[in-house]
Amino acid sequence: MIDRPTPGYKGGTVAQSIPNSKQRVTPESQQRIIELRKLLQNASYAYYSLANPVMEDAIYDRLYRELQELETQYPELITSDSPTQRVGDTPATGFETATHNIPLYSLENAFDQDELQAWDERWQRHAEIPIPEPVQYVCELKIDGSALALTYENGVLTRGVTRGDGVAGEDITQNVRTIRSIPLRLNVDNPPARLEIRGEAFLPVAVFDRINNERQANNEALFANPRNAAAGTLRQLDSRIVAERQLDFFAYTVHLPDGFEPSKTQWDALELLQSYGFHVNPNRKLCNSLADITAYFNQWDTARLDLPYLTDGVVVKLNNLALQSHLGFTQKFPRWAIALKYPAEEAPTVVEDIKVNVGRTGAVTPLAEFQPIPLAGTTVARATLHNRDRVAELDIRVGDTVIVRKAGEIIPEVVRVLPELRPPGTIAFSMPTCCPECDSTLVQPEDEVVIRCIDASCPAIIKGSLVHWASRGAMDIDGLGEKWVEQFVDRGLITTVADLYQLTQEQLLDIDRMGKKSAQNLVEAIAQSKQQPWHRILYGLGIRHVGSVNAKLITKTFPSVDALVNASFDQIEAVYGIGPEIAQSIHQWVRIASNQTLLQQLQAAGLELKSDLPDPLQADVSGESLSDANLALAGKVFVLTGTLPTLGRSEAKEKIEALGGKVTGSVSSKTDYVIVGEKAGSKFKKAQSLGILCLSEAEFLKLLQTANAVE
Ligand code: IVH
Repeated sequence: MIDRPTPGYKGGTVAQSIPNSKQRVTPESQQRIIELRKLLQNASYAYYSLANPVMEDAIYDRLYRELQELETQYPELITSDSPTQRVGDTPATGFETATHNIPLYSLENAFDQDELQAWDERWQRHAEIPIPEPVQYVCELKIDGSALALTYENGVLTRGVTRGDGVAGEDITQNVRTIRSIPLRLNVDNPPARLEIRGEAFLPVAVFDRINNERQANNEALFANPRNAAAGTLRQLDSRIVAERQLDFFAYTVHLPDGFEPSKTQWDALELLQSYGFHVNPNRKLCNSLADITAYFNQWDTARLDLPYLTDGVVVKLNNLALQSHLGFTQKFPRWAIALKYPAEEAPTVVEDIKVNVGRTGAVTPLAEFQPIPLAGTTVARATLHNRDRVAELDIRVGDTVIVRKAGEIIPEVVRVLPELRPPGTIAFSMPTCCPECDSTLVQPEDEVVIRCIDASCPAIIKGSLVHWASRGAMDIDGLGEKWVEQFVDRGLITTVADLYQLTQEQLLDIDRMGKKSAQNLVEAIAQSKQQPWHRILYGLGIRHVGSVNAKLITKTFPSVDALVNASFDQIEAVYGIGPEIAQSIHQWVRIASNQTLLQQLQAAGLELKSDLPDPLQADVSGESLSDANLALAGKVFVLTGTLPTLGRSEAKEKIEALGGKVTGSVSSKTDYVIVGEKAGSKFKKAQSLGILCLSEAEFLKLLQTANAVE
């Protein structure tokens, strides 16, 4: 949503034509749509790229909703660069390989001043021409993320590709569109027919922390560092998940076509990128000497730890673009740039203890405690050892000297053990066979590396579940953290999340260090949480594999707990984005008697285990049926041809019929749509010759979604 307005703006290319425009377009509404897009683009640019908000969130939301409503009313006016079109409705089934228009080179590294000087002498020798004086260098922070190549045609974003091997990458346009600091339309009059932008997509550290906390809570594998998390996110098939992850992007290169007046310097190019509407790193510096570069490098050595994103060095580029193109590239690197790298943040320390922690899902995680050491700006005293396999691989023992690294400066990890410093008499560590919290026998489920306590009455599991229930993304119970939960459980006040709603102020006053005010606030915050929506409740229950995104997807299709409890495995798995593992986990969970009792208790306590907005498709699940004539696809005739990537024939047919449409076997002038899959043959050709609208599965799913919204 960051596009700034363009004078003479008339809207981008029409994204797709969708039926059911219920009203004729009026010039006023057309005008208003253009106006709203401009206002929203302006506000987003100020917010995401300039970090200088100019509009209240509430106003933004109101205008956004107004635009959405108008676009629902007049779907033919939806354009691909509208702020409402950032997130796709349906997951992709895979990514296509895309050849780069211009290859993406990597950078040569320099690890000290001598190497920097050697580079400076090398390019001067190679130039073999009088070097224009004074030599200027641009220093930029080297952002630790994932490089992206973006193509804009006539000012509109048309392609976003990962670096890949530099020659070809993956076309992840759908995901790139969700990054708010990437304009969907450039803020420039008369843009060239085509231009290419390079830059780095990254995850802000705070977002990385949040994601990993959520993943830990859901017992999912943690991302090692923000760079991996950014790369993993960009390759997510579901762009809705990408949008939630809040990636950001710094632009640093622009390739303009020949004849288009280019900037003469890198410094100007960065300013040009900023004026186009991109987020350009403000911490850049124009330097006149190697001494200036060193000063900049040293300045950021410590200051970078306070930045909201990670940098692993400084990129030094010759400012003069004519000189850059004269120097060109070696096989791998540009001759006109170098990356001056900061050393990795690693330090040795001595292991004092190896403990095991039991999480809310019963997962038993080993962790090493060691003599505290300063690392990347904080003091580190413990690190996760992940699982039994990792412990065995490291052969880590109490007394060992180990190298600890703050991966991505965030999560400390033990990189390696130094066996040459191992004192005599150390004992190999082995994982316990009984739960350190409740003493029940631990199990290792098949196909898992994790060892688990499976005793539902284990206090560690109960405490973890309560903390998760109260957490921000779930029931958001202010003030209910580990400290209180620990005492409530240890004193036998509560054993399930439902018990929380029976707690009284008097009971709380008995707890150590709990004042009258805190007790009152806590009881109120617990009562307040009864208002939380159904999807948060479902997430809060901590069912394995059900993260906050999945919970939203599930509750959209199953708007009440009864619908979910009565749903078959197939019906749960049929929800977009829900795979068999998640479906099985939910299906099993709701069948356990104690869980059903818990759900009843929560309802009795006044929680609403249902949402207000029934989904039209839900009619299918609950057995109710809507009147056909009013349905969004009433009277529309579809033909299916070829193999669809995810939907079976009968599934697609069911979906069409659920919305009142009809599926026929042959294409004629009466056909409204042909859904085209792989190896489509004569029907596709005939549809094209008759000018009938042909849709891919993704477009078809989008059509269904829109049809639902229209309903
Ligand atoms: S310029 C022709 N500038 O670092 C090479 N790269 O290790 C142009 N990177 O692949 C690259 N911040 O992904 C450039 N300010 C910056 C950068 C940057 C991060 C990444 C980029 C590149 C990698 C090389």
